[in-house]
Amino acid sequence: MTPDQWLERLSRIEKEFFSVPGGEDPGRLEQKYLGRKGELALLLRELSSFSIEDKKRLGQTGNALKNKLQENLDSRKTSRGAAASEARPALDLALSGYPYPRGSVHPVTFTANKIIDSLGKLGFSLEDGPLAEMDYYNFEALNFPPHHPARDMQDTFYLNLKDEKNMDYLLRTHTSPVQIRTMKSRKPPVRAISFGKTFRSEAVDASHSFVFHQMEGFYADKNVSMADLKWTLETFIKDLFGSGAKIRFSPSYFPFVEPGAQVEVSCVFCGRNGAAGAGQKPGGEEGKCPVCKGSGWLEMLGAGMIHSEVFKACGYDPEKVSGFAFGAGIERFAMLLFGIRDMRMLYENDLRILKQL
Ligand code: DAH
Repeated sequence: MTPDQWLERLSRIEKEFFSVPGGEDPGRLEQKYLGRKGELALLLRELSSFSIEDKKRLGQTGNALKNKLQENLDSRKTSRGAAASEARPALDLALSGYPYPRGSVHPVTFTANKIIDSLGKLGFSLEDGPLAEMDYYNFEALNFPPHHPARDMQDTFYLNLKDEKNMDYLLRTHTSPVQIRTMKSRKPPVRAISFGKTFRSEAVDASHSFVFHQMEGFYADKNVSMADLKWTLETFIKDLFGSGAKIRFSPSYFPFVEPGAQVEVSCVFCGRNGAAGAGQKPGGEEGKCPVCKGSGWLEMLGAGMIHSEVFKACGYDPEKVSGFAFGAGIERFAMLLFGIRDMRMLYENDLRILKQL
């Protein structure tokens, strides 16, 4: 046989192989062409009678075809396997079912609902306000005149849209404007809470975000005192964190209350003794509770007696009406209720984490 005749036989084998219809048994084809006595195997063996150069040249072409046939046979086998499984009965009643994934409320929503329920029991109704707010409601009526330094702490995002006073609309920096909106539309006695998204121009870290949630509560009536505020917050906090929880006030400044206070809650992790307890993850200083950093107290709310200027802006007479207000970040409550140390975990939407909460 000459090399040309050899090549001709090779191409005949190729043509013949590739004209075999898809339904043919791949095992039988393999035997016919590539098996020990298969047509291609035999042809390759004939190479031994050629010169070294011809052996090299023809051998390469022959082996390339061998690989090509093998690939084709493999894919014939796979599609035959798939066809066989398709042929199974469509409905197999013996198969176990797929577990149905059950949704749940987000931890922030869960926490807000708990707060709303708890204050609802004390007679607070739920009010709502817009996220894109006017400067007047967010600042001015709350006794932050233009250029007041307290505005600096609440830098936010401004909309390219003018309000009634020719100021840009802004994304509200707190839920306190709902106090103004509610007092302007209702007469005392008023007892209301609000909850929702708030915004500030903040860099994101473990305890800050440019969007977060707040709750706000206030009560305006005759003869409301700071003792009423303290009782209300204590009752609410005990309902949320258990009867052992305590609160304490210290002086603080917010333009819309006078006096103003910062309210701390006894640390729910260490039970106010400041020591790292069993099961607490390391992270703080040796031996100290990592959540309250050993102080035994956690800053949770801002509060105070509603400022006379705020009452005036709402058309209430500060000689006749008094009231208290309080506000807090929902994420902080959620972090304590669920034992989360990084606020970002609440927003990364990693189901592996959210499902554990
Ligand atoms: N609005 C305040 C803030 O975002 C929180 C606050 C403090 C609300 C004192 C109040 C209050 O109602 O009385 O920082």
